[in-house]
Amino acid sequence: MNDIIRSLFDRKSVRSFEDRPISGADRDLIVDAAIQAPTAGNQVMYTILDITDQALKDQLAITCDNQPFIAKAPLVLVFLADCRRWLDCYDFAGAERREPGVGDLLLACEDASIAAQNAVTAAHSLGIGSCYIGDILENRERHVELLRLDEYVVPVAMLVFGYPTAQQAGRPKPPRFGKEYIVRENAYSRLSEAEARAMFVDAHPEPGFDFDEFIRAFCARKYMSGFSLEMKRSVEEYLGAFMREPGS
Ligand SMILES: Cc1cc2nc3c(=O)[nH]c(=O)nc-3n(C[C@H](O)[C@H](O)[C@H](O)COP(=O)(O)O)c2cc1C
Repeated sequence: MNDIIRSLFDRKSVRSFEDRPISGADRDLIVDAAIQAPTAGNQVMYTILDITDQALKDQLAITCDNQPFIAKAPLVLVFLADCRRWLDCYDFAGAERREPGVGDLLLACEDASIAAQNAVTAAHSLGIGSCYIGDILENRERHVELLRLDEYVVPVAMLVFGYPTAQQAGRPKPPRFGKEYIVRENAYSRLSEAEARAMFVDAHPEPGFDFDEFIRAFCARKYMSGFSLEMKRSVEEYLGAFMREPGS
């Protein structure tokens, strides 16, 4: 296994950071590495917010489902899917153009996510841990206000970075599902019930693992949780701008 592939296997989320800053040079390397990511048509349909204001970090720790470690991260980056920048350029140039649609947003989300993952990988290579914060998709109204978002700009990913504490460095990485369940040849097919049960049993070799109990608890704790329902509501609000009929 080469060093790059080894680093992909070694990386895991870090949620507790040493109390030491990330140097300016390393911050630049992380951001510059993000910007080297591929983007659709080289349009670079994202903007990165570098959250340096501690009061804003404190707010985001609350608005992103009360996760205090966000406020303690020495580096916090928000990756915005940005369908505004090109629109403005079209207008500056007097181009005949349409309003952005959901297809444009999806491409911008891909651009933003890929750039974010480059930042994660670059940070890991520098000994700096990171964690995605999906909850940045919640609380649309508050985040529009806090981050002064445009209607064609959606926060896709928030990343918090810092040097891992010894406890975090020693923490085992959560198991992955086997690739026989993840990879299909040529065409999509749903997992059978037997495959689905086997997938979870394989990933949870601990004695007494009960698929039905685990899945029901997971569904209640995550999929049906308040934060998940809030994310659904919030994202549907963001989507509204991209789904308007022309002229409405
Ligand atoms: C889109 C996305 C959103 C996530 N949001 C959160 C979050 O809000 N809080 C958190 O502690 N971890 C969050 N995570 C981290 C996942 O829980 C973590 O990646 C997963 O459990 C696998 O563990 P690993 O990253 O250590 O391999 C998120 C990860 C992704 C990719």
